[in-house]
Amino acid sequence: MFRIAVLISGGGSNLQSILDSIDSGYLKCSISCVISDREGAFGIERARAKNIMTYIVDRKIYGNSLSDEILKIVDGKADLIVLAGFLSILKGDILKRFNGRIINIHPSLIPSFSGPGMHGIKVHEAAVNYGVKVSGCTVHFVDEGTDTGPILLQRTVCVNDDDTPESLQKKVLSEEHKALSEAVKLISEGRVTVMGRKVIIGGF
Ligand code: GRF
Repeated sequence: MFRIAVLISGGGSNLQSILDSIDSGYLKCSISCVISDREGAFGIERARAKNIMTYIVDRKIYGNSLSDEILKIVDGKADLIVLAGFLSILKGDILKRFNGRIINIHPSLIPSFSGPGMHGIKVHEAAVNYGVKVSGCTVHFVDEGTDTGPILLQRTVCVNDDDTPESLQKKVLSEEHKALSEAVKLISEGRVTVMGRKVIIGGF
């Protein structure tokens, strides 16, 4: 069974979309653990409700050794690491050991509105303020940068004149849930090949 480790920092609606996709049979994989980088993330409750092993690796306690501590937990226990609303930046050995096996979901069409400091509602404020007509979400492979790895999937939403950052966030989040499960499915079925900056999705 294809095993994934899910890293979170907040509410965990993206985690929930993966849990639901497993329950529906859309995803043929198991979640070996859910790890939060802070106390009180509701996503931890969502995992516990499904009897999934959870860990809190508090960024305030572990600081620069956060990534190494997470590696100790996931090494040998996961085929793929999924960053689902995870706000810390992974670095060091974990990026080497899981090279090409870490994906992230970002709530914009990268490279727009991405990079350091661009997360959560700030992304949608920037999009609304810029006046874009289309926004969306991106699933990408994680490299040593912030939101800079090769792009696997993107889904778009129309930005209407009366959209607020909050209304846009709601629309984008709905697409994130679809994109993340689709990305995990494609990878778990061995249908994804990364060639430099390009990600090729093959048939069955
Ligand atoms: C989502 O908007 C995601 O794109 C971003 O953080 C938010 C997490 O939402 N990385 P949730 O915790 O999955 O509900």
